[in-house]
Amino acid sequence: MCGIIACVGSDDAVGELLTGLENLEYRGYDSAGIAVQNGNNIAVRKKAGKISELKETIASDVPNGSVGIGHTRWSTHGPPTDANAHPHTSQTGRVVVVHNGIIENYESIRSQLEAEGYEFKSETDTEVIPHLVEHHLDKGMDVEQAFKTAVDELDGSYAVALMVDGEDKVYAARQDSPLVVGVDDEAGRFYLASDVPAFLDFTDEVIYIEDGDFVEVSPGSLVLTDREGNVVERDVEEVEWNAEETGKGQYDHYMLKEINEQADSLSNTLGGRITDDGDVSLEEFPPGTFEDVDHVEFIACGTSYHAALYGATQLQRSGVRATATIASEYDTSTVTENTLTIAVTQSGETADTISALRAAQDAGAETVAVTNVVGSSAAREADHALYIRAGPEIGVAATKTFSSQVATLTLLAHRLSQDLEQGTPREDNEEFFSELEKLPEYINEVLATSTAEAVGEKYLDKESYFFIGRDNEYPVALEGALKFKEITYEHAEGFASGELKHGPLALVTPKSVVFSLFTGENGEKTRKNAEEAHTRGADIVAITDDAESVHEFADTVLHIPETHPDIAGLLANVQLQLVSYYTADMLDREIDKPRNLAKSVTVE
Ligand code: F6R
Repeated sequence: MCGIIACVGSDDAVGELLTGLENLEYRGYDSAGIAVQNGNNIAVRKKAGKISELKETIASDVPNGSVGIGHTRWSTHGPPTDANAHPHTSQTGRVVVVHNGIIENYESIRSQLEAEGYEFKSETDTEVIPHLVEHHLDKGMDVEQAFKTAVDELDGSYAVALMVDGEDKVYAARQDSPLVVGVDDEAGRFYLASDVPAFLDFTDEVIYIEDGDFVEVSPGSLVLTDREGNVVERDVEEVEWNAEETGKGQYDHYMLKEINEQADSLSNTLGGRITDDGDVSLEEFPPGTFEDVDHVEFIACGTSYHAALYGATQLQRSGVRATATIASEYDTSTVTENTLTIAVTQSGETADTISALRAAQDAGAETVAVTNVVGSSAAREADHALYIRAGPEIGVAATKTFSSQVATLTLLAHRLSQDLEQGTPREDNEEFFSELEKLPEYINEVLATSTAEAVGEKYLDKESYFFIGRDNEYPVALEGALKFKEITYEHAEGFASGELKHGPLALVTPKSVVFSLFTGENGEKTRKNAEEAHTRGADIVAITDDAESVHEFADTVLHIPETHPDIAGLLANVQLQLVSYYTADMLDREIDKPRNLAKSVTVE
């Protein structure tokens, strides 16, 4: 939710800030702005709309400077207007701030400051920060003191970067919102950002900032202090992602690129984690790690929740008590010291998930974060981190990370079924894991032969799109519907096949399409449910490895290669991703940045 960037010691601060903002645009894209230290003044440029609009605005008047901050916004307080865009400035304009997060007590701070004569220009929570810092400067504090004192007075979550006119410096702090420092030691340059891709064009050396840390950067100098004011050293890490991986390459959209990357990303996910004799080898979790666990609960949101549901289904099948809960609905009543809570989060920064993770820890559970982002909040806060290794995902709609999450959870489920007393590890493990290793190959086959584009076109004028499946097809049905509605803006819903007749069937008309999953072992039952919809006039699209058994009633078939039923859902999911993509493209939607959404949702 919102992206911040800062650069220090740059030859072209404006150019680097704009590149950084473009790389962060997936975090928010309703307004953007930059501020650059320009001699003794700070030049601020901001604009409602996309970064391209900001670029046009400043093209005729580019401020010069080597130090600057920038922001791309996903509105929380106040609509996307020029005034509400960041950076925000203090009364005199000498303090300038960008912020990601939510200041929960901004109303009381604002009223106090207004009572003292400070005039606010926006409806944002953020604007209290520059005024508060100026207030402390006016009382005689130096900048560092004023900033730290102001930050201490804030409740809520923040990654904040601040400049004061006349100083070639950026000050920053974080609490519950991500902040990373990019280091180019040789050139004495530094970057601050919400996420690593912001500065990958300039450096791949990174320091992950911890909650409560303060950062002070000037050309050639970086000072980190903790809450108590002690200077702290944090490791500089080299990131494995490169700028090319985060580019769009030959594709029109990141989403299509990421769908097409799934064979490679899955190979990375699985690489080295399956032994020749069909066992799981997770260096993070050697056999026996979870011996004391007696039940497992997954917490996650959106697409990650669907992956979690898939994971929970697999665990239940192997005799392990497991549940999956939407993180914002999480309740710790059943947590004991023998609970294992697994937070599934691509970004590792989703506020609802992090908050549930903390609640689980407070209640005594052992925790694991299953995430894509090394050094993310979830990875650092959970007792253990298990990386899905999918590589950077920029499109707001999650695609390759869903496949990698499911594959990772499949491995983890096997380890848990071995470790837990109640578990009954799968007996078909050799066959199963050999099929799992072939998934990348099967995915390439789906990508090469899919007729999803034609299917999208055929049903473009329908009014409702339903997705049904049972067992582990159910999470795929939910995911198919989420992807479809999210990027096409059309009405789409996912159901357990058996539930159609308990209510949703009333919605089915000849203007409906029912995407029906036939990848598992209960095809006959789903077939009956799909036929019930067909009788009411709906078109049926069957996703199956066996066109023969469904061709009598399905209007259209999307074919997948034959594989183990426990993983066939992932192949069906690729077909559904493609249908959503092509439909959205034909409807001319903003595929990589769907309206009202953002990739990283750091507010509850
Ligand atoms: C949908 C989508 C979202 C995310 C959700 C959780 O395509 O991407 O539903 O899955 O916001 O995000 P993470 O996985 O980062 O916790």
